[in-house]
Amino acid sequence: MKFFVDTADVDAIRELNDLGLVDGVTTNPSLIAKSGRDILEVTKEICDMVDGPVSAEVVATEYEAMIEEGRKLAEIAPNIAIKVPLTLDGLRACKTFTSEGQMVNVTLCFSANQALLAAKAGATFISPFVGRLDDLNIDGLELIADIRQIYDNYGYETQILAASIRSANHMSDCAKIGADVATAPPAVIKGMANHVLTDKGLAAFLSDAEKAGIKIV
Ligand code: G3P
Repeated sequence: MKFFVDTADVDAIRELNDLGLVDGVTTNPSLIAKSGRDILEVTKEICDMVDGPVSAEVVATEYEAMIEEGRKLAEIAPNIAIKVPLTLDGLRACKTFTSEGQMVNVTLCFSANQALLAAKAGATFISPFVGRLDDLNIDGLELIADIRQIYDNYGYETQILAASIRSANHMSDCAKIGADVATAPPAVIKGMANHVLTDKGLAAFLSDAEKAGIKIV
């Protein structure tokens, strides 16, 4: 499973990139606003740092305006994936962009039917939001499994990009189901390394090493 980082914080992306944990980046208008930076400037900086796809989202809601914004975003770098919302205008824009060879991430997916439409529109990525469904007591992981089954039934090449990931358990659950990609905040990705028995075991090893005077260099 590929790991995308769901942030516009360049320092956080750099830290994870140095660990080899960044296969791509996703942003959205809320994350850009949180960064306090100009969208074109911060997105360019991210694209220069990361080899994989960097999702940048349009803010227009009508087809023609989405096309204009998407083309502007695509000019930033070759690894831009234009992010459009799962609306009929968004699907139409997706079709246009993908037929031009541009990567497209269709976002705000909350149902299997929406994911089916995105695949038919040729989306490169579909972003089902796991955590926001869980917030409503609807099983977000079940949606990932349903989309996996539908896409596999027909050989759709659209990649399932599990989004709104809130915990390390979400990451391993998505990997078990077979999501192609999961995008998560930096803290969630770093948190995957944590285990209380790792901390306890390391403390014991270090204590024994000190008592025995073990020195390596
Ligand atoms: O990728 C979409 C993601 O940013 C949404 O996450 O936690 O705001 O639901 P969240």
